[in-house]
Amino acid sequence: MTDPSQTVSFTQMKEGTREDYELLHELEKPYLGLTADRILDELRRQGEATLEGYQISRLDHGLQSATRAEAEGRDIDWIVGALLHDIGDGLAPQNHDRFSAEVIRPFVRWEVAWTVEHHGIFQMLYYAHHYGWDRNARERFRDHPCFDTCAAFCERWDQASFDPDFPSKPLEHFEPMVREIFARKAYDPAVIREGEVLGL
Ligand SMILES: [Fe+2]
Ligand SMILES: [Fe+2]
Repeated sequence: MTDPSQTVSFTQMKEGTREDYELLHELEKPYLGLTADRILDELRRQGEATLEGYQISRLDHGLQSATRAEAEGRDIDWIVGALLHDIGDGLAPQNHDRFSAEVIRPFVRWEVAWTVEHHGIFQMLYYAHHYGWDRNARERFRDHPCFDTCAAFCERWDQASFDPDFPSKPLEHFEPMVREIFARKAYDPAVIREGEVLGL
């Protein structure tokens, strides 16, 4: 049974009252607060099966990438960015890089979001020629300030992280970092630091 005091009056948004929208605003807060839990659930789901044809699961790949980022002493934006760089693979396998970037974009540095957004095309360097595709498709971004960062991300973390024997840290190790990132104020300029490139 729906609680009328916790439910809007409208069936079309244009008919909503100020009280309706104030109620929705209040109810949205705990929902937004559970974003990290939904992210962690999706990661666990990615660990339920080995990725088609690969030796490891998508979760293992993310954990391995994040473990490498942490071992190199990178900041939490990079560690969580590495962990989640393929989080969109389940719902958007054809454009999972952009999907994954949108998940983290409000909460991480601009350089990290740009790298995750473009890692798919940069990653083609390692395999596209086997299909007769252009492995250097990344060259269209040669003059972008994040080019070298994205190239390093793919070389050191992404393409390297398909090893079933790699000693990855478990998801529990990264869970507090995921919670810290998604507890940040969304689109805070002090977090995003648009245009700043620190490199990898
Ligand atoms: Fe990817
Ligand atoms: Fe990946």
